[in-house]
This record gives sequence, C-alpha cells and structure tokens, in this order.
Amino acid sequence: MPDADGYFGEDIAATYDESSPDMFRPEAVDPVVDLLAELAGDGAALEFGVGTGRIALPLAARGVPVHGIEMSRAMADRLRDKPGGDSVDVTIGDFATTRVPGTFAVAYLVFNTINNLTTQDAQVACFRNAAEHLRPGGTFVVEVGVPDLRRLPPGQTAVPFRIGPTQWAFDTYDVATQAMSSHYVTITDGKAAHSSIPFRYVWPAELDLMARLAGMRLRDRWGEWSRTPFTGESTKHVSVWEKVAG
Ligand SMILES: C[S@@+](CC[C@H](N)C(=O)[O-])C[C@H]1O[C@@H](n2cnc3c(N)ncnc32)[C@H](O)[C@@H]1O
Repeated sequence: MPDADGYFGEDIAATYDESSPDMFRPEAVDPVVDLLAELAGDGAALEFGVGTGRIALPLAARGVPVHGIEMSRAMADRLRDKPGGDSVDVTIGDFATTRVPGTFAVAYLVFNTINNLTTQDAQVACFRNAAEHLRPGGTFVVEVGVPDLRRLPPGQTAVPFRIGPTQWAFDTYDVATQAMSSHYVTITDGKAAHSSIPFRYVWPAELDLMARLAGMRLRDRWGEWSRTPFTGESTKHVSVWEKVAG
C-alpha cells in the first residue's frame, strides 16, 4: 500500500475523471443511477469506495440521501469540490470494516472495486459490513468483471490489454491464490516508468457464497446495468443480493 490514500492518491485523483471519460458519460451513468434510485425507494444509499462521486452525486441529485465510505482523502476531496459535493456525506475508512450511522435501503460497490480488496477474508468482511448497514429486505449491488481466465493459456501468467506507442499494460495472474495485478509501463521522454495495482479476482458463485455468509440471497444478476441477461459470454455482472428478513 503506497500510503494512507491507498492506490488512489493525489496523482491518480488529479486525473481520475479524465482518465475514464466513457465511465462518466450519461449512457454509462444513467442506467446505474436509475437502478440504484429504484432500489433506494424512500430510503438511503451507501456507496463503498465512493471515489470522486461519479455515481453518488447524480444519485443524490435525484433526491436519494447518499453516504460514501472512501479510503482516499484525495479522491474524497475531489468529490467535495464538485457542484453538489456537500450533498454526499463521506466517511474516510476501509469499506470492509468501517461502520457509519444509519440504516440503508441499498449499499453498492461498482466499477470492479470489490477487486481492490486483495484477500478473500476482506471480501467476506465487506459483504458482512454491507449487510450490517442494510434494513431487512435492503439490497447490496456489486458491479464487477467476470475473471477473464479464458485469455490465459496454460503456463502463461500475463495477459496484455493495451499496447500503444507510449504505454504497454498487462495483467498478471496467480491462479492458485486469485491474486492478480495490473501493470502499466509508460514511456515519457524516452524513459520508461512502471506502476502496478494489486487485485483479487472473484467468481460470481463465490460472491453468492459470501452473500449467504452475510445473511443475504441473490435477487438478480444481469450482464449490464441495462439489465440484459447474464450468460456464459458475459464479461461482467451486476448482481443484487437482498438481506433476508429476521
Ligand atoms: C475504481 S475507483 C471507483 C470510484 C467510484 N466508485 C466510481 O465508480 O467512479 C475505486 C475507489 O475505491 C476506493 N477504495 C479502494 N479500496 C478501498 C477500501 N478498502 N476502502 C475504501 N475505499 C477503497 C479507492 O480509493 C477509489 O476511490
């Protein structure tokens, strides 16, 4: 871990929104906010890893009270500086363990952020933490990629995903531990710099088991926020677990 802000420190926060422009387009954001507003109903929403407010701010603008948990002060500062930034309460902490006051209708964790928890224990704790914040019948929503192991031939541990004139990027996998890392080699003025970020990839069925351990059961699983069916060819899933009453 580089520092208390984790892997989303000042340098990443400064360009986070510009570095993923497609994720900030209305076509990407609106279906997320539609589903979360529907699940929130007359209740409140809790975002784990709220970042710069890509989802939390438009959700709050719909009239849903939103609370965020975020490890990086640098990311949270960017959220607060945006129009409407004071409409989202942010607690600095680890979303696997940090409790905030209140009871929520929906908790959510989007954009592969469950993978930022690099152990199975931490991912299990995250599901428990979500369930403890929810009212009975409340829902926990996770958006995450399906592990892309079909691209990893036997004996190979690295898969490139970007090859350009000034940047090469690749993922490395340890299939024994489900640890993976994304690596970026960037050339500036003829000099190469390397950065990497660790993840733990996790299977949909494994997440269902984590949900059951936390007293939740699967309600829906789609291949996209637009609620297309999840199939064997889906590259990601949007899953909704419901806290079992009682
Ligand atoms: C990929 S960004 C997503 C941000 C935002 N949810 C979005 O959709 O744009 C992941 C965010 O989760 C935060 N994060 C990662 N691990 C965390 C943890 N264990 N506890 C709290 N925040 C964490 C990072 O600092 C970063 O802001």
